[in-house]
Amino acid sequence: MMNCVTLFRDGDHRWMVFGQDPARPDGIIDTNQVVITAGGNSAMLDPGGLELFPHMLEAVTARIDMDSVRHVFFSHQDPDICSSLPLWRQVCRPDVKVYVSWMWTGFVSHFDRETEFDPIPDEGGTIRLSPSVQLEMIPAHYLHSPGNFSVFDPAARILFTGDLGASLGHEDPQGTYTVDDFDAHVPLMEPFHRRWLGSAEARDAWVHRVATLDPRMLVPQHGLVMKDDHVKRFLDWLGGLDLSAGIDAVWGPGGPPAKAADQRSPR
Ligand SMILES: [Fe+2]
Ligand SMILES: [Fe+2]
Repeated sequence: MMNCVTLFRDGDHRWMVFGQDPARPDGIIDTNQVVITAGGNSAMLDPGGLELFPHMLEAVTARIDMDSVRHVFFSHQDPDICSSLPLWRQVCRPDVKVYVSWMWTGFVSHFDRETEFDPIPDEGGTIRLSPSVQLEMIPAHYLHSPGNFSVFDPAARILFTGDLGASLGHEDPQGTYTVDDFDAHVPLMEPFHRRWLGSAEARDAWVHRVATLDPRMLVPQHGLVMKDDHVKRFLDWLGGLDLSAGIDAVWGPGGPPAKAADQRSPR
């Protein structure tokens, strides 16, 4: 059975993360799926790929009534996030809202042409779960997708970060889903962030925006969550990281041409 951990609970306001499935088929990347409940309503964030849909459905329906799912949110367009869309729509209420960046609606429609999306504008928007729980979609464009969003829950002070903060190859023997030793965790995040994030300017803007939100927990779509002091440590680490690791390959073995100033010969 897919693992499920409750990350936050205050009355019926709850954050659950699903993943670390021991029966996950070989060759597919490990993902976290998030369900938030409040006021009898639920939202699913990045509900996953179609290969793990049966496991995810079993784990979700053991905990919530599918009729409570009013909102399905995709941080971006990747198949590990949204290829399950046509299957979820078969088990969700017909008026479920499906959110993805306006940039991606026509692309994600290749998974399910009949979905009527709620396109997210570049500046983001709000998903109202209950009178006291409103989720804010925070722009995270170019990190890594050009149309990409994080989700902040001000009442819980938790930020769902999508692919930001992703780690691969983590061990979680206690099943806490939580980073324990930040320094030991950095090598599990670094290759992904260096290769997949293409814009230092976009990174700087997101780090600044998230610092003003002051979350106490970051929940990525891959790997372990970061809490309390680790939130600031993560933002500091990400803010100082060298990005665009793939660009050397574009230049090829010769590298970039020497700058004009370097080629000028003395007269
Ligand atoms: Fe992605
Ligand atoms: Fe991802």
